[in-house]
Amino acid sequence: MSEALAPPSPGALRACMSRFTTGVTVVTYDSDDGTRGVTMNSFTSVSTQPPLVLISVARRARCHDQLLGRPFCVNVLGAEQEALAMRFAGVSDAAEPRWATRTEVPRLAHPLAWMQCAPWQSYDGGDHTLLLGRVTDLAHRDGDALTYAWSRFGTAAEAVDGIEHLI
Ligand SMILES: Cc1cc2nc3c(=O)[nH]c(=O)nc-3n(C[C@H](O)[C@H](O)[C@H](O)COP(=O)(O)O)c2cc1C
Repeated sequence: MSEALAPPSPGALRACMSRFTTGVTVVTYDSDDGTRGVTMNSFTSVSTQPPLVLISVARRARCHDQLLGRPFCVNVLGAEQEALAMRFAGVSDAAEPRWATRTEVPRLAHPLAWMQCAPWQSYDGGDHTLLLGRVTDLAHRDGDALTYAWSRFGTAAEAVDGIEHLI
């Protein structure tokens, strides 16, 4: 009979995950109380046909119930947009966000990339809910990316010759 292993502590799991470098996004949406945004790095692509992306939303976040079943936009931040990440994480008010005008779903002005999503499906993710969105519109620009690792922001320089053609 195998012995049940104790589950890893939240701190141990966080320490491992902090060594995984991600980009940084702000997920924007129309809520009952107006236009809102929330900083999220648990963002990944899922499928190209149909075009699906995933975000993982903490159950305790204010946006949790408001995002369920609603369209949203994932704004990928550029290297110079760290203050926006802090603002939409509720950490600092240093940056006053600028919003793109005449959009179907609220989005930031001038992110590195944006993907507007229609709600597709949601799944239980423990203390988070996994939301899949179907990408309905998108655009990108050139520039360095904002990153997050070791619980710190960093940057990744724009690459001219990636290995996309090999994958
Ligand atoms: C770098 C970074 C990444 C984050 N990623 C997520 C995430 O993926 N999902 C999430 O629910 N919260 C994430 N957060 C926390 C939210 O941004 C934060 O709790 C925010 O205040 C929630 O806003 P709300 O409660 O007004 O909806 C992240 C924060 C930071 C600084």
